[in-house]
Amino acid sequence: MCGIVGGVAERSITNILIEGLKRLEYRGYDSAGVALVDQCQILRERRVGKVANLEQAVNESNIQGSLGIAHTRWATHGKPTENNAHPHISDTVAVVHNGIIENYQELKDDLEALGYVFTSQTDTEVVAHLIHDALKSTPDLLKAVTQIVPQLKGAYALGIVHTDHPNELIAVREGSPLVIGVGIGENFISSDQLALLPVTNRFIYLEEGDIVRLTRESIEIFVDDQLIDRPVKELDATVSNASKGEYKHYMLKEIYEQPEAIQQTISQALNGNALRDDFLQHAEVDFKNIQQVQIIACGTSYHAGMIAKYWFEQLIDLPCQVEIASEFRYRSPVIVGNTLYVCISQSGETADTLAALRDTQKRAKAKSLNITTMTICNVATSSMVRETNHHLLTLAGPEIGVASTKAFTTQLAALMLLILKIGQIKQTMPVEKIAEITAELWHIPKVILDTLQNDKEILRLSDLFKEKQHCLFLGRGTQFPIALEGALKLKEISYIHAEGYAAGELKHGPLALVDHDMPVVILAPQDDMLDKLKSNMEEVQARGGELFVFADENSGIKNKDRQHVVNVPTISSLLAPIVYSIPVQLLSYHVAVLRGTDVDQPRNLAKSVTVE
Ligand code: F6R
Repeated sequence: MCGIVGGVAERSITNILIEGLKRLEYRGYDSAGVALVDQCQILRERRVGKVANLEQAVNESNIQGSLGIAHTRWATHGKPTENNAHPHISDTVAVVHNGIIENYQELKDDLEALGYVFTSQTDTEVVAHLIHDALKSTPDLLKAVTQIVPQLKGAYALGIVHTDHPNELIAVREGSPLVIGVGIGENFISSDQLALLPVTNRFIYLEEGDIVRLTRESIEIFVDDQLIDRPVKELDATVSNASKGEYKHYMLKEIYEQPEAIQQTISQALNGNALRDDFLQHAEVDFKNIQQVQIIACGTSYHAGMIAKYWFEQLIDLPCQVEIASEFRYRSPVIVGNTLYVCISQSGETADTLAALRDTQKRAKAKSLNITTMTICNVATSSMVRETNHHLLTLAGPEIGVASTKAFTTQLAALMLLILKIGQIKQTMPVEKIAEITAELWHIPKVILDTLQNDKEILRLSDLFKEKQHCLFLGRGTQFPIALEGALKLKEISYIHAEGYAAGELKHGPLALVDHDMPVVILAPQDDMLDKLKSNMEEVQARGGELFVFADENSGIKNKDRQHVVNVPTISSLLAPIVYSIPVQLLSYHVAVLRGTDVDQPRNLAKSVTVE
């Protein structure tokens, strides 16, 4: 989604802004722009396409300035054109904006009646004109912004500069993330701290409703016109752990980082083959009382939740529902007391998940219900982490590739840790079982390393996919969500139409699709369902379908004509979904590379979906 970078400094910040935009490229965008204030003038460049196009334009025009804002745009209102790219200008005011102004049409009509002429189709341009109009009655930029903010409906983050205020950057957070980077004699804003890592590791995370005035020397944060304090946090992340290293793509790097990421995630909770005493200690009282679990998530994170449902019910006899956040939030769900509501999210900022959480909290409060909320998240400073009672971090490190990989497998590891903890607290899982599962969890990084050894073989098979238009993924039990996840991965980065199915559903419809041209990917760990799955494979073969089987090395499934088998090391069926994620990720990655798509930034997609 859109990205904001801005700053006020002594030195020229042109290169800092462009570098910042490059570091936001992973979020997905279709155009980029920058505006600098220099000698009472706004100098602006905007380009459709990559930040590299903008960089070239900026180098040619050599615009410089010590106050500026920059933006990567992911089109919502109006096509990806230069005119629609941010920053938007109203004479002396320049604005960048993330999110959506829902009532922009009304505001636009009013502004047009006042004589303002619009040069773009965006919702953002109204903000620039509104501020310009407000400045007719006050010379104070902060006051003008504070005056117009109540007129804006929707979710937004704003960065604003003005030609007459060369040492002043105004920022607003209302529903879209924004962070302040605290420098020495210079200060910055961004929608993601990653953009600012080359200039600072000290950050202030803004809260909803914050309006900020930054100068070179000062940071003032206002809530309802009152000056307030927000803590400065020092971040551990370095510039290097957010770079590609020797890998061709972030996605490949992140696939290979999974053994380490899982090791990190489980290490925070385990001590030998037992749970650490301090693991989720503050949640113990709440966990004791819960009678059921409701998971809310989107996309890949939703697939992690689907697997957890099997685990919650099978392992600790706790009813668990899972729902896509965009459905949950709009269907007036009945909120039930003594329920643990779990948001799963890599970013912790996904608009639908966050809205579903807030709505649940509101409904529970209105009915005086006792619920517990929890986030499983990869970003410690995210809104979801801040707004839930408890959180469990996936320690995957920054995930830059739009297609989620290490975030997913660490979410699974974290969910299993949560289940062990609740089982222990509610005494629904014996100590021996906890020890058995923790021993298996410790073993997972090694099994993933061994599974990654199949990379070349999967690359070879990927060649057979590159001309295909469609593909089916089949699995049973906890491999059904992996089938969904495999299909999602393939479609989002290779643009091949793919569907995931529970293999038992084959006869109820999708079998009609199977013919000579339809590759069918099968997930076949060693579990109770293997024989049934083998029957499904026969059904596909009998209709001429070509099988690509990721199978347990002891499954007895062998290579034969139109049946390609990749052996996966033996793993308990319980944790098999973590391991079987790896071959489907590698398959999607290689097919996408062979088809020449933009693997890390697939078309039309964004990393952090901060608008509905
Ligand atoms: C797919 C993918 C998305 C995200 C979804 C939720 O590879 O990455 O489907 O899983 O947008 O995002 P988070 O987990 O940040 O809430």
